[in-house]
Amino acid sequence: MDPKERRSRATEGFFGRRHGKTIRPQQAAALESGLGAYGLDLSADAPAELRTLFAADVSTVRLEIGFGGGEHLLHRATEAPAAGFIGVEPFVNGMAKLMMAVREKPLANLRVHNDDATRLLDWLPQASLDGIDLLYPDPWPKKKHWKRRFVSPLNLDRFARVLRPGGKFRFASDIDTYVNWTLLHCRAHGALLWQAEDAADWHRPYEGWPGTRYEAKAIREGRRPAYLTFVRK
Ligand SMILES: C[S@@+](CC[C@H](N)C(=O)[O-])C[C@H]1O[C@@H](n2cnc3c(N)ncnc32)[C@H](O)[C@@H]1O
Repeated sequence: MDPKERRSRATEGFFGRRHGKTIRPQQAAALESGLGAYGLDLSADAPAELRTLFAADVSTVRLEIGFGGGEHLLHRATEAPAAGFIGVEPFVNGMAKLMMAVREKPLANLRVHNDDATRLLDWLPQASLDGIDLLYPDPWPKKKHWKRRFVSPLNLDRFARVLRPGGKFRFASDIDTYVNWTLLHCRAHGALLWQAEDAADWHRPYEGWPGTRYEAKAIREGRRPAYLTFVRK
């Protein structure tokens, strides 16, 4: 897709809510100043060397798509200051929550995007990411809505383009049909190989896993999470 087309197209991968409860004035102020400081400008070309996007001297760059309230992203960015993190979340209240947190404790290894992740993926240079986390994406459990799921042949092409060889795509979900869907789509795609060490592997959380807000709800409601890791060939 040429850069002009890429920037003008309507959102294609986001079907959720952009707004929840009215945000408080303090949150609105944190959101405005936070997006000014951490937000990426997709109207300019991406730097050839993605690490230069960060104030910190980072050696790797990871992406989290749909970070919700940002709890997992904050945990990862705080525990690994030498890695750069890009977080994407179109839901305004989620972004406001993260921007409140970084107002208290700034992070030099964080950047964000407040729109559909497909736009950011198309903006990124080829083989520029070390990892992509898609944690509890909107499940769209009804069959007639499956085509809205973020995992699709087109988005797996996007992942394969921006991940460097050896880079990891991590997918967690509590919805069995989405887990199977992702395994089948990645197998059909061919560039992303499922890394399972043994039969219990997919129920074992990732190293240093802090959980997510959505996961806590799923467990409370009796659903069992699965944690998949795919490696870019
Ligand atoms: C079920 S929530 C999970 C949130 C968080 N990862 C967690 O586990 O608590 C899914 C999130 O993905 C976001 N989302 C949906 N479509 C998206 C897209 N195309 N690009 C980026 N984020 C998206 C939603 O706004 C929502 O916050």
